[in-house]
Amino acid sequence: MKVTVSLIKADIGGWVGHSTVHPKLIEYAQGKLKEAKETGLLIDYYVFNVGDDLQLLMTHTRGENNPEIHKLAWDTFVGATEKVSKPLKLYGAGQDLLKDTFSGNVRGMGPGVAEMTFEERRSEPIIVFAADKTEPGAWNFPLYKMFADPFNTAGLVIDPSMHDGFRFEVYDVIEHKYVLMNAPEELYDLLALIGTPGRYVVRRVFRKSDNEIAAAASVTRLSLIAGRYVGKDDPVLIVRAQHGFPAVGEILEAFAFPHLVAGWMRGSHHGPLMPVPLKYAKCTRFDGPPRVVALGFQLHDGQLEGPNDLFDDPAFDYTRSVAQMIADYIRRHGPFMPHRLGPEEMEYTTLPAVLEKLRGRFKPGEE
Ligand code: F6R
Ligand code: MG
Ligand code: MG
Repeated sequence: MKVTVSLIKADIGGWVGHSTVHPKLIEYAQGKLKEAKETGLLIDYYVFNVGDDLQLLMTHTRGENNPEIHKLAWDTFVGATEKVSKPLKLYGAGQDLLKDTFSGNVRGMGPGVAEMTFEERRSEPIIVFAADKTEPGAWNFPLYKMFADPFNTAGLVIDPSMHDGFRFEVYDVIEHKYVLMNAPEELYDLLALIGTPGRYVVRRVFRKSDNEIAAAASVTRLSLIAGRYVGKDDPVLIVRAQHGFPAVGEILEAFAFPHLVAGWMRGSHHGPLMPVPLKYAKCTRFDGPPRVVALGFQLHDGQLEGPNDLFDDPAFDYTRSVAQMIADYIRRHGPFMPHRLGPEEMEYTTLPAVLEKLRGRFKPGEE
């Protein structure tokens, strides 16, 4: 049976500020997806949050970009906004719902989407990642580690079924085009692109030997859709594990180093991406630091056996404490780059107004 896994997310109101999602929003979404399971539209679902983003994980047999599935997600976000966020005056109620009417696909309407379709294997372990206070390019580093770095993924060297390597689909979020690149043959070219995570985003990864889908990420850039700052593009990612794909532990290993990502406070600061269990998926210090959860599921005929909250493990305590050291270190830069993003990347800025105010006071000068 071919199963589609769809993970669709939106920030439709924070509790409190931008820190987390109100339990009543989760309850509302669970109710809607339960109905859809009863009518047979969904095989299964799981609702969760990371920071202020509400996450709808769904399995079904309708394929990707299916209008009914996307409408279900859209209606759930709209309903939750009307029934919960607005009455409770949650912060930024409905902020990621950029359009008034649904037009068949939530892509381009605000919510983030990661989807993949595959024939379920004899055993099908998947890991779903969701991050807050960052951008889709935040997955570039860990996806590279998982699928292209033998110092992370032992299987690339010693497992014959992975030894051919993987193919990366790299999406240019500015010019809306993509390129397929092979690892290991094109590693340096690949890195030349994905080392600019604000522009070149790994959207999908395929196993090279048979083109089987291995990973799918969301690439939505809200500010690019809306033409102005409207919130963060907090990203999601689905990865298949084991037996020809990286092992669960190789996938998680990619997050053992809390790399710096963009998106902290006002979408305008760099900070370390801290792996956390669901119970700590709440952004606090300086609205962060950016964090990521990893939920494991064994699929069986599309049923989601899980979640197994994979970062809920002392093995990641060290990463978390390094992340906090880095957070403290970089925070001390205050308004200085590279903590603050470069002027072209900032979601909030007063720079044009400040320059305008000072225009008459700038005098010609020589070095
Ligand atoms: C939002 C975020 C926050 C906000 C900040 C200011 O996801 O990252 O850091 O940007 O709290 O929010 P406003 O402008 O809504 O007061
Ligand atoms: Mg928010
Ligand atoms: Mg968010």
